[in-house]
Amino acid sequence: MSSKKVHIFDTTLRDGEQVPGCKLNTKEKVELALQLEELGVDIIEAGFPISSPGDFESVFQIASKIKDATVCGLTRAVQKDIEVAANALKPAVRPRIHTGIGSSDNHIKYKFNSTREEILERAIAAVKLARNYVDDVEFYAEDAGRADLEFLARLTEAVIKAGATVVNIPDTTGFCLPHQYAEKMSYLMNHVPNIDKAILSCHCHNDLGLATANSIAGAIAGARQIECTINGIGERAGNTSLEEVVMTIRKHPELDLYTDINPKLLLPMSRLVSDTMRMVVQPNKAVVGDNAFSHSSGIHQDGFLKEATTYEIIAPEEVGADTSKIVLTARSGRSALAYRFKNLGYGFDRNQVDELYEKFLKIADSKKEVEDADLKVLADSITVAV
Ligand code: KIV
Ligand code: ZN
Repeated sequence: MSSKKVHIFDTTLRDGEQVPGCKLNTKEKVELALQLEELGVDIIEAGFPISSPGDFESVFQIASKIKDATVCGLTRAVQKDIEVAANALKPAVRPRIHTGIGSSDNHIKYKFNSTREEILERAIAAVKLARNYVDDVEFYAEDAGRADLEFLARLTEAVIKAGATVVNIPDTTGFCLPHQYAEKMSYLMNHVPNIDKAILSCHCHNDLGLATANSIAGAIAGARQIECTINGIGERAGNTSLEEVVMTIRKHPELDLYTDINPKLLLPMSRLVSDTMRMVVQPNKAVVGDNAFSHSSGIHQDGFLKEATTYEIIAPEEVGADTSKIVLTARSGRSALAYRFKNLGYGFDRNQVDELYEKFLKIADSKKEVEDADLKVLADSITVAV
């Protein structure tokens, strides 16, 4: 069986940039877009051109500079939005317009004060209009996670007939469980007669911490595009994290899926986004957090020092990180202490390590982490005594 490609649609510069305090200027956006292209993303969602003159300019500049990846601009299902996006995308080698409208009864009633039939008509009109400007049109069925399945299937069929090349099934509110999101994708794969003419896309938010799990479940069920952001940033609790998706797919070859992302660039990309947006990455963040390759408890350290794979399923160099870290705390064991002394150039025997360990625990109980400077003082105490 040949592996199936999952297209990586990066929306760091659009959904990610919607995070309060993370706004970027055009220069910063262009720099990040060039690095995203280097990383290997297939589609860069560069912004929402009608939202401001600055965002129009950013999309225009990115469209002028990116040569390999598809450059995408977001719109509502509104004529002016689509015309403006088409203008912003004019210089792009591979332009895509991403248009859409709410699909759940909740959105149809409260956001649009409309009906399913009217929404269907607006969706079709938006896709047809966008197709007048570009060959690649993605339709998003906003709040699809809570939408009626039969209506979602009708909407999907209609927008594909109108010319959509990709249909995005967003779990906008991060509501779905992985099996529910997968069932939605499977239903569409099996009940939309023209589904072979488009690809389905996962766009999951992280309100319940399930965004990555839902996206992977969607891909297993047949979606061939995942929308994600670096470090999982995005509205509210964020979007699916690109690095988590990529490494999950890599670590599970039995899924028979692959992406074109260069994993060695994941950590540098994460740091670049964090620095540029001035948004810290939580230390325990999967794949790119500061603690992702740190071992601090004695049981783990002992196993890790015997054989790294006992406690690491990802080697740090695989994602462009330095080496794994052995952190010394009051929960650390003798083997970790001996290892850290060895790295500092001390070769203590077993009895000496035992003696040092007792002293070490006293220091460790009084502070969060024992540093090299503390170890040097400890080492001196024993060398002086000898
Ligand atoms: O979460 C969402 O539904 C979106 C759409 C605009 C694609 O971001
Ligand atoms: Zn979103």
